[in-house]
Amino acid sequence: MSQQNRSRARGIGGALFILAAAGLAVSGCGPKEEKAPAPSASAQNAPLPYFAEKNGRHAFMVDGAPFLVLGAQANNSSNYPAMLPKVWPAVEMLGVNTLEIPVAWEQIEPQEGKFDFSYVDTLLTQARQHHVRLILLWFGTWKNTGPAYTPAWVKTNNDRFPRMIDAKGNRVYALSPLYRSTLDADSKAFAAFMAHLKTADPERTVILVQVENESGTYGTVRDYSPVAQKLFNSPVPDKLVAGLHKKPGTWKQVFGKDADESFHAWSIASYIEKVAEAGKAAYPLPMYVNAALRDPYKYQAPNTYAAGGPTWNVLDIWKIAAPSISVEAPDIYGNTYADVTGQIARYHRPDNPLLIPEFGNSPWFARFFFAALGNHAVGFAPFGMDFTKYYNHPLGASAVNEETIAPFALNYRIISPMMREWAKLSFESDVWGVAEPDDHKAQSIDLGRWTAKIEYQQWQFGFANWEANRKAGIPPGTEKPCGGALIARLGPDEYLVIALHARVSFELTDKKSKQHAMFDRVEEGRYVNGKWVFDRVWNGDQTDYGLNFTSESQVLRVKMATY
Ligand code: DGJ
Repeated sequence: MSQQNRSRARGIGGALFILAAAGLAVSGCGPKEEKAPAPSASAQNAPLPYFAEKNGRHAFMVDGAPFLVLGAQANNSSNYPAMLPKVWPAVEMLGVNTLEIPVAWEQIEPQEGKFDFSYVDTLLTQARQHHVRLILLWFGTWKNTGPAYTPAWVKTNNDRFPRMIDAKGNRVYALSPLYRSTLDADSKAFAAFMAHLKTADPERTVILVQVENESGTYGTVRDYSPVAQKLFNSPVPDKLVAGLHKKPGTWKQVFGKDADESFHAWSIASYIEKVAEAGKAAYPLPMYVNAALRDPYKYQAPNTYAAGGPTWNVLDIWKIAAPSISVEAPDIYGNTYADVTGQIARYHRPDNPLLIPEFGNSPWFARFFFAALGNHAVGFAPFGMDFTKYYNHPLGASAVNEETIAPFALNYRIISPMMREWAKLSFESDVWGVAEPDDHKAQSIDLGRWTAKIEYQQWQFGFANWEANRKAGIPPGTEKPCGGALIARLGPDEYLVIALHARVSFELTDKKSKQHAMFDRVEEGRYVNGKWVFDRVWNGDQTDYGLNFTSESQVLRVKMATY
């Protein structure tokens, strides 16, 4: 038996193991309520973070209360101590509460079985000094679908760690999810990393861990190796069939034209589930995966995107295969309003908290913070936010500097003082939010008894059809879409309203009503240590033409009434 065949034979056993093991416990794909983990043995330990779900709304519980990740993600290769001095100044300028940064398999296990956590330790110390939490990104078997971040002893050994084979029989770049040898090696490294965190981080500086990075495969929809073919022609595991309420059969029989992608999604998700399980056995922090996206509306041929990764069309499969993963999260770089809001809608589900771990970092994207929070997001982070001078333009900004950081920093400056209050409202109440569309058109938000109207490119004083305003054109700085609004229900007829570059007005939803809307009271204030602090009442010019927000950081409590 050749070396290749021997390793294939080992692989076949491993592949069967993965799919059989993943089929043991049946669970539905409906909303899952996660319970707070049992209190830690050590009294010094802060409570473990976790995701809570209630009536389809989600909270990311950190230090025992709902938390909103006001984040930034560093560039890929900023994961070395020498780069951190170029990361923290951007973090400070942005005013984030959480930094997302990679931990690469190649850096913690350069030689098999020999671990080096010095970078992780440096990072923990410096994050604490900068008073930010960490979300660590495990770059293992898959980083943007490829194995570049696996150690040399993995990526150069195709016999032991087989790559996928395409439909024409060619070896492709990505590691196959079907081999136990690869799964075991990744799981061991990830478990060692989590075990290290457990001892090094009783404070819970690290609040969440991303398992792999943008899994899936470009160019081929699945593995077509003999090992894969054998599995593909076998019955779909009971757990998946039952969870999706389908009739048993082979992959082709159960999924028809979607069989190849479904098989690959199941194989990758089952693999990641095992890696996550191994990590959680060492230290049960919450975990998530991120997705390279497919079109949110139109059919796209699966070989043109990262097929098998957690794209919206296979989320039900991921939910069943990977219950240890709390969130399937979109990396959003779309370049139209429709694309960005479409992705937000796809990933905001009763069974999936909305977490956006990567957003484009050009100023154009900043306004979508409002759309994300309005869809109950538990976290938001622009990508590439450090001063290492690498720019992923045209996905993001062509430079990261004070100017590009400013609109994101402004968002965070408004929400930071009330981060806990917003996260609680988002978990327990109704919240809404919109970003300015590309064509600047007004939007309506149905709040129940009231409808909020959001308009853009308005002067604060008067109406757009006034001759003087028409002559004046649009207010400077509003040429490109930059506005947004957030509303939360505080009680009957009472709302919290936050906006930038937008006019917010309220009218009765019932157009036939004989009643007329009026402001009972509009208070501007701030949350300080969880308490609302009154600053002033808005009235007169400040309310006669709706509530007009510019780039000032202003938070309003609005009580509506009728006459
Ligand atoms: C998405 C990936 O998850 C990131 O690591 C990075 O490669 C960006 N794409 C592109 O800058």
